[in-house]
Amino acid sequence: MIATQKPIEIRKVTESRIHQVDWDNLGFGHVFSDHMLVMEYHNGEWGAPVIQPYGPLHFSPAISSLHYGQAIFEGMKAFRNTDNEVFIFRPEENAKRMNHSAERLCMPTLPEDVFVHCVEQLISLDRNWVPTLDGEALYIRPHMFAIDEYVGVKPSDSYMFVVFTSPVGSYYTSELKVKIEHHYSRASHGGTGSAKAAGNYAAALLPTKKAQDEGYNQLLWTDAESHEYLEESGTMNVMFRKGNTIMTPQLSDSILSGITRDSILQVARDWGYVVVEKRIAVTELIEGLRSGEINEAFGAGTAATIAPIRTICLDGEDFNLNEYSTWEFAPKVALYLDRVKRGRENDTHNWNHVV
Ligand code: COI
Repeated sequence: MIATQKPIEIRKVTESRIHQVDWDNLGFGHVFSDHMLVMEYHNGEWGAPVIQPYGPLHFSPAISSLHYGQAIFEGMKAFRNTDNEVFIFRPEENAKRMNHSAERLCMPTLPEDVFVHCVEQLISLDRNWVPTLDGEALYIRPHMFAIDEYVGVKPSDSYMFVVFTSPVGSYYTSELKVKIEHHYSRASHGGTGSAKAAGNYAAALLPTKKAQDEGYNQLLWTDAESHEYLEESGTMNVMFRKGNTIMTPQLSDSILSGITRDSILQVARDWGYVVVEKRIAVTELIEGLRSGEINEAFGAGTAATIAPIRTICLDGEDFNLNEYSTWEFAPKVALYLDRVKRGRENDTHNWNHVV
């Protein structure tokens, strides 16, 4: 029983758009399912959620999120197996992280059970939109933004929580070339790096574009203070394998606490790898790449899941890793987690939320 939940009003589409979808060419983030969920916050409380046809929302140009950036989001995925069972992967963790982001951005939190119930009801209504093909999933995008019509700078009094979904294929279509960034920063201590704040992504666009103009897919971000330690890669957490050790930068207020990150580390421990979460110096990475001791590097995130990094550039010098197919850990954990999410593997950690 969800104590805090107000009943969800459901206004269904008159005609589904599902027959228009080219399921073999989904790409990422262009196709939207029939319905979305909208819930507003006024006078210190959340109103009743409404599931309604997906489509434009109407606002004043003065809403404060457009000007001062009180906007946060989450990314999660649902999967469907051939028995038509639908699973959402670890939604409770997204609920927690959304509240962490909300607190940092001075926004209202949402009871975790309400968040999960809202997402579950939306997915349940649009369950036919959850892909069954390997390599595809239903990407779920909960987000919250300030809607006060006011141009002064202060925390908004009113907010909108919206969830829409999008059947997706792969986020990246190739292995990655990344460049170590030591001028720009994604986040700094005391900032909003551990929150999933829209502004973090905006700040990353220009440096990323510059790297892309030089032929790299993404950046390997370093800390804002010294630029000597690794933080994240692109929009993902980053990991390396060195022998029997899986290494990743330790969480801090400038690193997002990824749910894919956490799942990979848990599986690595289950499989007997040594998991090391620490500050990883750029020099340690480069030495490991030169000596061949670091033999895997990959990004970890919901959208991309596991994104192999084949080339890392430091100051114009490219360091290449061996072919992904020869790696021992990343391909195995990618396949294993994919099987868990699709209900094909024993879900030993109870990660799947059945819809
Ligand atoms: C995710 O992995 O869900 C992300 O948030 C990345 C996104 C910006 C596409």
